[in-house]
Amino acid sequence: MAQPVLSRRAALGMVGLAGLATAAGCGNSVGGGPSGGSGSSGGGAVKVGLVIPQDGVYTPLGVDLRNGWQLYLDQHEGKLGGYEVETVIADEGEGPDTGVPAIQGLITRDNVDLLVGIVNSASALGSVEAIAAAKKVLVIANAGAIAVTGQARNPYVWRASFTNAQAAFAMGEHLAGQQPEGGVYLMAPDYAAGQETFVAFKEAYVGGGGTIAGEALTPFGTTQDFQPFLSGIPGSGAGATFVFYSGGEAVDYVTQYAEFGLKDTVPLYGSGFLTEGSVLEAQGEAALGIQTALHYSTEIDNAANADFVAAYSDAHGVLPTCFAVQTWDSALVLDLALAEAADLSGDAISDALAGLGEISGSPRGPWVFDGQTPKQIEYLREVQQGDGVLINAVVDELGEYAQ
Ligand code: BEZ
Repeated sequence: MAQPVLSRRAALGMVGLAGLATAAGCGNSVGGGPSGGSGSSGGGAVKVGLVIPQDGVYTPLGVDLRNGWQLYLDQHEGKLGGYEVETVIADEGEGPDTGVPAIQGLITRDNVDLLVGIVNSASALGSVEAIAAAKKVLVIANAGAIAVTGQARNPYVWRASFTNAQAAFAMGEHLAGQQPEGGVYLMAPDYAAGQETFVAFKEAYVGGGGTIAGEALTPFGTTQDFQPFLSGIPGSGAGATFVFYSGGEAVDYVTQYAEFGLKDTVPLYGSGFLTEGSVLEAQGEAALGIQTALHYSTEIDNAANADFVAAYSDAHGVLPTCFAVQTWDSALVLDLALAEAADLSGDAISDALAGLGEISGSPRGPWVFDGQTPKQIEYLREVQQGDGVLINAVVDELGEYAQ
């Protein structure tokens, strides 16, 4: 599995993160400022549980999520809405078996005021009930499971990231416009995020007249050798492949796609997580030319993104990612909401989030909450050689997508 790429400078920076504590095993929290539950705007403290993977396929995403959260705090005197922030980190691990207990521990053992994070859709789906019962706000900083802010919605679960449908639907529409000869072959890991990606892609692409040449859901977290699945593509006659993979699986998939000789014969498309962040460096030349849809690129041309890219690169020695933006934006919306909320109860914070209107100042550009999830632009990106590093160049805007 790919390891997160951290410069020496970034590694040193992480050692010195003020106010970040890890909720280990039996989990006492420590950190900056007075803790827990009774702050008031303009002077108190807020205790935030940050749930991120520190183990498994999505470990590189956890690094970026942590860095984005800390960058926002460093830029804002360690405060959100006037409250001194104490962050307690819990390890989500690879999926719900570890992710759900991590959430429960932060609520019951650490008595956090609110929660941020969660990468895996299945962990998010498994946590919804515990969040509703605790009446604490959770701002999801990655997991795209549609139901958590849709059918299984409760007032406390918000999202500063995306739904799995957004990138998949956008790319489905795009490829329906291209009509690759022989149709499109679909591949994704066999859990909620991959399954939802298939559904949304088909809705847009088949709905737009395209044909599916074949599809494979691969076992999540245990597939290191994709060859048995890739071998279905050449005989299918597909003119393109569309996939959802992220983290360590994205590295293995993209490098093996090239090794198997498919890169030059069946163009590869994906939800943008496929080529996002440290995985891109690990994929190297095998990633060149891959086109993806996503709500962020370091190459988006706006002032907030230029500042963000410069500050993040300065702090960590690498380009930022959508994952870092998503925790930075989680902090941004909480900063705005906590300044307005009557107190730190889940109801007060949720009411304040509902009243935010357009979020400006985000590196991804302005966005609004559509219900409890961002409505935002999806960009068509292509992996190109940048100035000494591979980048996801912005080729086009695919449109604005909601829930
Ligand atoms: C998900 O499980 O929702 C997910 C995981 C990694 C990247 C994007 C989405």
